[in-house]
Amino acid sequence: MNILITGANGQLGSEFRELSPLYSSYNFFFAGCDSLNICEVEAVREYISAHNIDFIINCAAYTAVDAAEENPVDCDKVNHTAVSNLAKVADEYDAGLIHFSTDYVFDGSKNTPYTEEDPTSARAIYGITKLASERVALAKCNKAMVIRTSWVYSFYGHNFVKTVLKQLQLRGSMGVVYDQIGTPTYAKDLAKFVLNVLSTDFIPGLYHYSNEGVCSWFDFAKMVQRFAGLKGEIYPIHSDQYPAKAPRPAYSVLDKTKVKDTYNIKIPYWVDSLEECIQRIQNDTNK
Ligand SMILES: NC(=O)c1ccc[n+]([C@@H]2O[C@H](COP(=O)([O-])OP(=O)(O)OC[C@H]3O[C@@H](n4cnc5c(N)ncnc54)[C@H](OP(=O)(O)O)[C@@H]3O)[C@@H](O)[C@H]2O)c1
Repeated sequence: MNILITGANGQLGSEFRELSPLYSSYNFFFAGCDSLNICEVEAVREYISAHNIDFIINCAAYTAVDAAEENPVDCDKVNHTAVSNLAKVADEYDAGLIHFSTDYVFDGSKNTPYTEEDPTSARAIYGITKLASERVALAKCNKAMVIRTSWVYSFYGHNFVKTVLKQLQLRGSMGVVYDQIGTPTYAKDLAKFVLNVLSTDFIPGLYHYSNEGVCSWFDFAKMVQRFAGLKGEIYPIHSDQYPAKAPRPAYSVLDKTKVKDTYNIKIPYWVDSLEECIQRIQNDTNK
């Protein structure tokens, strides 16, 4: 099976790259933004045809949630129009498409976990463009799987975990919002899940995937501090004390019953996965 990973140098793409040697029955093609811009539809078509791609795993995205408010056209181009083209081209070549979306498609007004059937109501440009991407991916490609995920972090790239580590080391204290509730997702767990799906029965459709459990950003930060063994103070603040251009949902826990029942999987608890990631970061720092 020939698998193309787009956006290969981001958090999720890098985790796929690291896991790839464990999946020797697949041929991986890793394409970063510099080697394959997903906005260039002819380049995508040529790539898929030349490498006989069976599955596209689209890790490319415009993920700067606040910057998106000022650059809606750029954001839509990558998150929506390009995905529409990817889905169309994948379908032309009878290839599958695995695409990722976000908990930010919800407005956060619920206080129980969101299922795939819950009505969406994205409030920020990023969420609006990702919601549009879900619809075009599922409508234009027969073999499309869309996975909504949340609060992604990794050993690779920029993310909340790295921000907390840096802030504590540089400043020794930080305020973190405690009134936004969700679930972190370790990109490595998500990548592993996707690669395992490809070796079982692939069932197209919309799924939710995050780690297990629930927390606020404040709890998340406190746990990062504990596992990293860093001194300093993390104190809780309200969202209005941390003004951001894009509104975030106050509650965006994803219900994962569908993915667990369909694929008969157990999903790691967020605290366990966080501990593993921080060990990786620390081992790397100590090298
Ligand atoms: N990060 C989160 O908290 C989060 C939460 C929910 C859902 N998700 C979704 O999960 C998926 C993976 O996210 P991530 O955290 O791995 O994102 P990431 O680290 O920001 O990686 C995205 C990658 O896409 C690349 N890219 C941007 N425009 C491109 C283009 N036109 N053509 C090809 N590549 C392009 C970027 O390259 P450059 O850096 O060179 O621009 C970057 O390497 C995305 O669909 C995202 O929307 C993420």
